[in-house]
Amino acid sequence: MALDSRVNKSNQYGDCIRIGNPSDLNAADFSRLTIEAKSLAPWRKGPFELHGLRIDGQWDSSLKWKRALAVADSQGGLKGRRVCDVGCNNGYYLFRAIEAGATSALGLDPAVNFEKQFEFITRDLGDSRISFKRAGYQWLLEEKQVFDVIFCMGVVYHQKNPYELLDALRESLAPGGYVVLETLGADLGERMIVPAGKYAGQGGIWMVPGPVAIQNMLRRSGFGTNRMMDVWDARDEQSRTEFADLPCMKEFYNDTGDKTIEGYEVPLRYLFLAKR
Ligand SMILES: C[S@@+](CC[C@H](N)C(=O)[O-])C[C@H]1O[C@@H](n2cnc3c(N)ncnc32)[C@H](O)[C@@H]1O
Repeated sequence: MALDSRVNKSNQYGDCIRIGNPSDLNAADFSRLTIEAKSLAPWRKGPFELHGLRIDGQWDSSLKWKRALAVADSQGGLKGRRVCDVGCNNGYYLFRAIEAGATSALGLDPAVNFEKQFEFITRDLGDSRISFKRAGYQWLLEEKQVFDVIFCMGVVYHQKNPYELLDALRESLAPGGYVVLETLGADLGERMIVPAGKYAGQGGIWMVPGPVAIQNMLRRSGFGTNRMMDVWDARDEQSRTEFADLPCMKEFYNDTGDKTIEGYEVPLRYLFLAKR
């Protein structure tokens, strides 16, 4: 679907990433666009609006971004910075980093489906500041690229080798650079849960750390400075949508909402600032 140059001018990178206008497409093309977007479901991150097609992800990613940007703003903001987003999913935060003034925003994610979503979103974009590489954080260890600001959010607790990830992040920082690290955790101080199987109904969670445990890991990985910047309960940031018919974590809490169905402490989200 080739679009003319009007499209670029109407893009808006705000809480909802808007690309193109409803008037760009006729009814048949809009219907094809909708079918294609649904074929790429589930959409975990959003919202996006493509030529008037609203795509709400399972997560309202604008909420986490506000908190993450506050961390960057405490360090002078993103203006003129080279940004990398490790575990970028479909790239939602790349747009937000450019909106906040970053000169470039590279997203890394190994998942083919998220790469396809990124390609779908950016098909008519024409913004060379934003790019996506289908690769895990391991690519950073080989490439030795440097970034001023690295976002790594929602990734560390999914890793079997979290120290390898933290090392890769630290080594990829330019002098004076920093990492904005966000993780699921629980109010456990320097302890952590290593779930026997699922945690709040989810597989692939290797640890549920207390905040001090994460700070200790950052310190032991060689970060000279690290500070906890935020903590919150994100249970209302996830919902089932037309483009993400997926169970949400809060569906796996007990009746009183104070434990997961497996009997573990309920999750909180934590944000850290870490400097070399
Ligand atoms: C829970 S999602 C978090 C997405 C986004 N960063 C956020 O905070 O909303 C975890 C993401 O990490 C990606 N991921 C999994 N293994 C990875 C790895 N080895 N390196 C980088 N990203 C990875 C997944 O594909 C997924 O998109």
